[in-house]
Amino acid sequence: MSGFDFSGRDSFGSRLGVIAAAAGSAVGLGNIWRFPYVLGENGGGAFLIIYLLIIFAIGIPVMMSELVIGRRSQRNPVGAFRTLAPGKPWFLVGMMGIVAAFMILAFYTAVAGWTLEYIYQTLIGGFNGKNSAELATMFESFRSESLRPALWFSIFLVATAGIVLGGVRKGIEKSTKILMPLLLILLIVLCIKSLTLPGAGKGVEFLFKPDFSKITGTTVLMALGQAFFSLSIGMGTLITYGSYIPRDNNLAATAVQVSMVDLIIAIFAGIAIFPAVFAFGISPESGESLTFIVLPGIFQQITGGMAFAFAFFFLLAIAALTSTISVLEVIVAYFSEQLNISRRKAIIIATASMFVLGISASLSWGLMRDVKLFNLNIFDLFNFTTANILLPLGGLLIVAFLAWFLPGGDTLDELSNGGTLKLKYYRLFRFLIKFIAPVAIALVFLNGLGLVKF
Ligand code: PFF
Repeated sequence: MSGFDFSGRDSFGSRLGVIAAAAGSAVGLGNIWRFPYVLGENGGGAFLIIYLLIIFAIGIPVMMSELVIGRRSQRNPVGAFRTLAPGKPWFLVGMMGIVAAFMILAFYTAVAGWTLEYIYQTLIGGFNGKNSAELATMFESFRSESLRPALWFSIFLVATAGIVLGGVRKGIEKSTKILMPLLLILLIVLCIKSLTLPGAGKGVEFLFKPDFSKITGTTVLMALGQAFFSLSIGMGTLITYGSYIPRDNNLAATAVQVSMVDLIIAIFAGIAIFPAVFAFGISPESGESLTFIVLPGIFQQITGGMAFAFAFFFLLAIAALTSTISVLEVIVAYFSEQLNISRRKAIIIATASMFVLGISASLSWGLMRDVKLFNLNIFDLFNFTTANILLPLGGLLIVAFLAWFLPGGDTLDELSNGGTLKLKYYRLFRFLIKFIAPVAIALVFLNGLGLVKF
């Protein structure tokens, strides 16, 4: 099955470029905005332990599987399954990924828009002198407006489309390689500041001291969803990126490195946020607003804090951009390859439809606040359904595809680069994708959604 035509297909330029692009997709608002608030709502340290277990036993194997499928097939998620399993219904897994991509891009770009508002606020001194309660009110009143969130959303969407138009390699690789390390440095400065605030110790305890009595089916489901969301797995993003990865890249090493970078950034975000949460007397269960209330509070404690805040929100917006690019790329690769239209046309169609979906998500606390399904507004509905249902279900089917359908020799060939790499953990990998990952995902699902009770 090897030897698809590489010519004419865009590809990543170097080993570092591959990691930069995949890490660019993984690292983003999921780490700095979503991880802290989901952890805060689901028991702190106990959540962290489950999260770690999931990353290693499920996340990395799923990521490796996606890269294998992508590079083997040289296709978008739908085309990949059609190529590797012709005439079989597996392509529906890819279709589900495209649906998830639409929903994620919609609400994620809305949050990315919030970061633009916060960049703007650092410029006009909007945070100056405000205490936590005032910062919370400021966030709520911004997000319940209609025009501003929708406007920032639109600007971010157009920026994403512009970069995807420029092509995979030029657009994504360059920005990530320089800016992500900078983000990490600023994050570390924030951690130090947060840790030295009076009362910070409680936050450290909350984050690192597990209270196992807090673990419920929901906690585990939320950790699973967060892991999938943060690693960008379960919907074919890494199938798509895998299809651009050169033949000599070590896919297993790439998956491990990307997952570790992603994990480290999430943990640093936790260390930056929670000590300050307790120092400022904010509830760790503040939900989606948590990061947006806590960070401006920390910046105010730093000399020259607003310049620092500007740099931080700017880099956060870039981190979000390298993620939105990867999601849009999934849709564009699918449209252009499967429907046989130009990339340009595909980008225009995808972006235009995204305006409708995304504006609705960004108005979830404004004009459309009363539109609810299962008691969730549009934003929360997209957020919950993708992370906790579509991505884990996609991941389950992706590992099942490798474990039970794709000839084992194909997987081995792809992971060992035609036998030129020595694979130390291949048997462990097979064990994880055959038994642990599918069974764990299925159980967490049934339990978390209340279908079966343990
Ligand atoms: N992993 C990204 C983050 O943590 O911010 C979000 C994301 C990107 C999710 C791409 C899914 C995806 F396919």
